[in-house]
Amino acid sequence: MRHGFGVAAVNGTAALHIALQVAGVKPGDEVLISTLTFIAPGNAIRYVGAWPVFIDAEPEYWQIDPQKVLEFLEKGCRWREGALYNKATGRRVRAVLPVHILGHPVDLDPIREAARKFNLAVIEDATESLGAKYRDVMVGNLGDVACFSFNGNKIITTGGGGMIVTNNEEWARKAKYLTTQAKDDPVEYVHNEIGYNYRLTNLLAAMGCAQMEQLPAYIDTKRRIATAYSKALEAVPGITPMREAPWAYSTFWLYTILVDRSAFGIDSRALLRRLEQEQIQTRPLWRPIHRSRAFVDCGLFECPIAERLNREALSLPCSVGITEEDLHTVLDVLNSSFSESHQSQRSARSS
Ligand SMILES: Cc1ncc(COP(=O)(O)O)c(C=O)c1O
Repeated sequence: MRHGFGVAAVNGTAALHIALQVAGVKPGDEVLISTLTFIAPGNAIRYVGAWPVFIDAEPEYWQIDPQKVLEFLEKGCRWREGALYNKATGRRVRAVLPVHILGHPVDLDPIREAARKFNLAVIEDATESLGAKYRDVMVGNLGDVACFSFNGNKIITTGGGGMIVTNNEEWARKAKYLTTQAKDDPVEYVHNEIGYNYRLTNLLAAMGCAQMEQLPAYIDTKRRIATAYSKALEAVPGITPMREAPWAYSTFWLYTILVDRSAFGIDSRALLRRLEQEQIQTRPLWRPIHRSRAFVDCGLFECPIAERLNREALSLPCSVGITEEDLHTVLDVLNSSFSESHQSQRSARSS
């Protein structure tokens, strides 16, 4: 199963902006999205004048929770004249936008089934997970349309770049049209719609082709790094290593752990600072989007799992260029942070 059409774009955010339009998302519509993701897909929904409905993450693999998607569609919406409307806002629900975060796929079957049942488009944000597989199918081939990013921090890069893929020829043509200034005549400057200059340059496209050749080797390396971290960390109290679902093939693009303060002794932010003292850069996971001030107009959402993951998660250095020595330094500092915090707790108790 593989989509037949690809349209290059200047970056992943532009790709999402266009994907939403070709999928028929209109101003005033609603699109379901996990609150635990990078801000770009939330922004893209707003660019088209639509509204995100924020769904909580599931606790195992930290992706959008399919059960909560279903619960919202079944209990929070009603049918009117062949279309689905949010009971609370009265807005039309048009699409679901699963984001495969950190290199791991979303559990897509229940989401695709719900989308079929409720007549919604599925727009995959696969920007963080190029090369990951869901039940043996590469992510990006499972929705109606999907987007990739070749930003500098992604598994392959053109410095900046993106791609829209779909099996719908008409949508692909429309995407090409919109990304290239919506030109309606090959010679004359005729424009029937508002278009965008969202092209990827030829130079960067050539770089992308060369980078694609490296992808299998990069994924192997990422998976080796993940195995090394997970093996070393599974025995450390209070640390939950990143996992891979039985139905998933993860690229482990951004290796992330959870830090339980009560068992580990310090919380994720204190650990971040401790690692920083040793010149080791780590990052928390995103603040849930519904808590960003830019999105306050979207309404109130309860997403306790995403809140907890935001508090506890820490992404560790995992570039494909990381050396064995660097990896061991990270692990040494993690282990010594655990011993130090327990030692200071013991001495606090005895004094
Ligand atoms: C989940 C997600 N969506 C979209 C994007 C946007 O891609 P770009 O930076 O290429 O615009 C990114 C990252 O950059 C991302 O992590």
